[in-house]
Amino acid sequence: MRTLRVDLGERSYPIVIKRGLLSEIGSGASGLGLKGRAAVVTNPTVADLYADRVMKGLKAAGFNPVLITIPDGEEYKSLNEASKVYDGLVKHRMERSSPIIALGGGVIGDMAGFVAATYLRGVPYIQIPTTLLAQVDSSVGGKTAVNHPSGKNLIGAFYQPKAVYIDPEVLKTLPERELKAGMAEVVKYGVIWDEGFFEFLEKNSGVLYSIGRELTHAIERSCEIKAEVVGKDETESGLRSILNLGHTFGHAIEAASGYGTYRHGEAVSIGMVMAVGFSARLGLCGTEIEERVRGLLSSLGLPTDAPDIPAEALMEAMRLDKKVSGDKLRFILVTGLGKVVLKETPEAEVREFLLSLKKG
Ligand code: NAD
Ligand code: GLY
Repeated sequence: MRTLRVDLGERSYPIVIKRGLLSEIGSGASGLGLKGRAAVVTNPTVADLYADRVMKGLKAAGFNPVLITIPDGEEYKSLNEASKVYDGLVKHRMERSSPIIALGGGVIGDMAGFVAATYLRGVPYIQIPTTLLAQVDSSVGGKTAVNHPSGKNLIGAFYQPKAVYIDPEVLKTLPERELKAGMAEVVKYGVIWDEGFFEFLEKNSGVLYSIGRELTHAIERSCEIKAEVVGKDETESGLRSILNLGHTFGHAIEAASGYGTYRHGEAVSIGMVMAVGFSARLGLCGTEIEERVRGLLSSLGLPTDAPDIPAEALMEAMRLDKKVSGDKLRFILVTGLGKVVLKETPEAEVREFLLSLKKG
């Protein structure tokens, strides 16, 4: 078992990582001083697999848990579904001290966290992430949100959980495509923060998907890096933006190709290769770094080539994204493995880079 810590003064919390942890959630939660009613928020896919184990553990630890499910899918990360969760909380007379427990991937975690931030002006919540993306990224750091019809994550709050409980065993039931998509975020931590970790991933790319101790180590190191970054910049006023490596290009690819074509992690994988390629073109790093990032992502079964989308459509999508100021676009660029800088870049340079990709 590894216990990490997100250090945020009074709002600090543990991230516990252990194989088989799911059955021990009840005692973990009561150890935090929580008791009484608890609402487990999940979806039918995850409920069928894991709700029994979590509910039993909560009951054994003296909780009186109820299960609230929302349909499975990004389209249900909405205010409308959140409203139904509030209805369930009111119906079951959940009080200020009653914890909400998010059991699922990033969709459930973001939505349950948002409900926890707003119900009764804030109730305690616990993250039990069940996808790789949620275990290494979305469950840590307190970004909670629902989508608005005109954009993703437009309605939300920074609201930290009381604990994050990660059981790598649950990844055994995760569809392969989801597992791979989450791996893009793992690679991201090596590129932005830790060359040694990047090398570890290169050495172990052939065994990570067997969900053994190498993957557990990768989850631990990813959470450690995310915890350190969030501990220094909770609300993304500076350092935290390095977690967006590959996301400006990635979001543009997601939007311009129509949401649903790529999983978020797949678009981030392509976006990271583009960000490193752009860095090399601007002379910030050598092309060998681009080759190593591309090589690792590709050996992990992730896409690395930009789809055939006109440069102007990508430019338009980037202008609508959140990372724009004036006629400059904001990128996280790479100066070496484990080293990045935030740079505002004139649109013309970005356009030239995109056109250079087309020429191949
Ligand atoms: P997801 O939550 O939709 O889960 C993917 C699929 O896997 C779903 O069908 C889900 O039911 C299924 N699933 C989950 N766990 C499973 C398991 N153990 N076994 C079998 N199936 C399982 O997708 P995701 O990639 O986890 O999360 C994406 C969301 O996360 C997006 O809404 C994104 O905006 C958000 N996000 C948030 C942050 C943050 O910092 N808060 C960071 C990155 C992404
Ligand atoms: N996923 C980026 C962040 O948490 O800031």
